[in-house]
Amino acid sequence: MADSKGSNHDNLFASPLGKVPGFVFDQAVVDVFPDMIQRSVPGYQTIINLCGELAARFVQADSNCYDLGCSLGASSLAIRQQIQQPGVKIIAVDNSAAMLERCSTVLQQDQCETPVDLVEADICAIDISNASLVVMNFTLQFIAIDKRQAMLEKIYAGLNPGGCLVISEKLLFEPESLNQLLSELHHQFKRAQGYSDLEISQKRDSLENVLLPETLETHIKRLRACGFNSASPWFQCFNFASLVAIK
Ligand SMILES: C[S@@+](CC[C@H](N)C(=O)[O-])C[C@H]1O[C@@H](n2cnc3c(N)ncnc32)[C@H](O)[C@@H]1O
Repeated sequence: MADSKGSNHDNLFASPLGKVPGFVFDQAVVDVFPDMIQRSVPGYQTIINLCGELAARFVQADSNCYDLGCSLGASSLAIRQQIQQPGVKIIAVDNSAAMLERCSTVLQQDQCETPVDLVEADICAIDISNASLVVMNFTLQFIAIDKRQAMLEKIYAGLNPGGCLVISEKLLFEPESLNQLLSELHHQFKRAQGYSDLEISQKRDSLENVLLPETLETHIKRLRACGFNSASPWFQCFNFASLVAIK
């Protein structure tokens, strides 16, 4: 619902919801998504911008770039604007029809020449081939944990030598006291962005069992098990981080 801050302002969790439903990427979320993600994920814009920098370095001529869980295409746009090689195609995948419909409108307003194929699919079911750059910005965390290894093995197999994978995620920390501290710092960030305590707690309930964070160690171990010899976080703010892995 629109509020005094406009129809694109995220107020989805501002009123008491009683039993909070599980989070879904539906039309209501699409309508406020840029505001929601900017005010919820510390460092979001820095991570998106850096995907462009990585595209300039890693994208190879006549190869594919994948944006897995593309939402409204922020990562695809950042990549597209920095591609300097010929014959490149971006394949942007999401399983939310509402997200892809809006993404298509967003991309049409961009004048860059690199084609972007929008694909409505489960990222666990797509083929990945001839890839020089794969980005998964805040998407792996929504995939069932027992499917993550196979997903990353598929990405590794589809990357060309020298290709780059970017994974950005909310992280879990051990011991629990450290997890608690970083969660509280994140909640403080959200409060500073204008979210009320009710919004913060209802959104947290909504994401329970939907967004499944893992520790940094688990991510690195899995990337190594998939064959990536170089894998490291390059950015972290509180309990959000972005990792880069090179084949
Ligand atoms: C937090 S958003 C990603 C944000 C986006 N990458 C960005 O940087 O702006 C997660 C996206 O992943 C999509 N998603 C979740 N599970 C998926 C799956 N199994 N297959 C395809 N897309 C999925 C959701 O529909 C949603 O648009």
